[in-house]
Amino acid sequence: MRSRRKVVIVGAGAVGSTSAYALMRSGLADEIVLVDLDRQRAEGEAMDMNHGLFFVPPVDLHAGDYDDCADASVVVITAGAKQKPGQTRLELVHDNVRICRRIMDEVTSRTREAVIIIVTNPVDVLTYFALKHSGLPAGQILGSGTVLDSARFRYLLSRRYGIDPRNIHAYIVGEHGDSEVALWSMAHIGGTPLKTYCEVCGKQVSDLDQDAILRQVRESAYHVIESKEATYYADSLALERIVGAVLRDENSVLTVSTMIDGLYGIQDVCLSLPAVVNRAGVRDILHASLDEREVEGLRRSAGVLRKVIEQVRAEDGAN
Ligand SMILES: NC(=O)c1ccc[n+]([C@@H]2O[C@H](COP(=O)([O-])OP(=O)(O)OC[C@H]3O[C@@H](n4cnc5c(N)ncnc54)[C@H](O)[C@@H]3O)[C@@H](O)[C@H]2O)c1
Repeated sequence: MRSRRKVVIVGAGAVGSTSAYALMRSGLADEIVLVDLDRQRAEGEAMDMNHGLFFVPPVDLHAGDYDDCADASVVVITAGAKQKPGQTRLELVHDNVRICRRIMDEVTSRTREAVIIIVTNPVDVLTYFALKHSGLPAGQILGSGTVLDSARFRYLLSRRYGIDPRNIHAYIVGEHGDSEVALWSMAHIGGTPLKTYCEVCGKQVSDLDQDAILRQVRESAYHVIESKEATYYADSLALERIVGAVLRDENSVLTVSTMIDGLYGIQDVCLSLPAVVNRAGVRDILHASLDEREVEGLRRSAGVLRKVIEQVRAEDGAN
């Protein structure tokens, strides 16, 4: 990890620029660079943010190009097509795999040291191809995965129980998408297992409640996209959290998307599980003890992703 904390964000659209804004406010980075096919847009976003520099910790924020990756600590990829109302994340796959491979070539010809964070959807499939295409070590490329979905889950539980979301530990794992899985067996409120907490407060969560809450988490993005065409505020905060874990070498447990090869009988697919994130990217994956239903759901989710990976291989060729 370099001493200067430089973050390059490829894609200065809604997610890329709000992420730059969140990072700028956080004081986590010394330098933030926006790279986009539309250079004018990247310059405009940088200029707009720079006019607020008086109010935030010092940071060198500017538009740039791929040469900026050479000394970056972190490269974030948010470039590509986004979901239209009613479209699933997986439907973006062909265009975005092609875009992501081109960007990976540009980035890895300048640096083989930076941690690369993929945000573009479908994030698990793109993380997989970015990894295969680049040949970088598995932990060095990670997807933003279900960090956001886990935050949505905690938000919904916090509303149900009237508890600060920061005191709720609950994870969504698997695909960042329609097959994702809620880990109810591991959910805790202030260190108390959710099940015990519910017995005391009287607000039990039935199987039907569990299904309804998970459906709400899964459908959150669809509702926001129907209302305002894109999601980006919570997304950019999730990204700031992940970038912070890398820049500060935090060893934070986050549900990022990473290569799974053998765990829970799942092979050769990228998906989210609670993982330890630090300056090298993903250090380890937690071997969490899931119940039978959760393992089954996770395997089903891995199956959905593997099918898409094989489809892309068959239709678009090579890694
Ligand atoms: N993983 C997550 O949690 C999450 C959350 C929200 C959005 N997303 C995904 O992030 C992506 C971006 O979403 P958005 O709302 O910012 O879209 P957007 O359309 O606002 O921005 C995309 C940007 O990418 C740029 N771009 C396209 N191709 C490029 C290339 N080859 N090189 C450089 N720049 C290029 C475009 O010019 C545009 O500025 C989408 O795929 C979306 O689905 C992921």
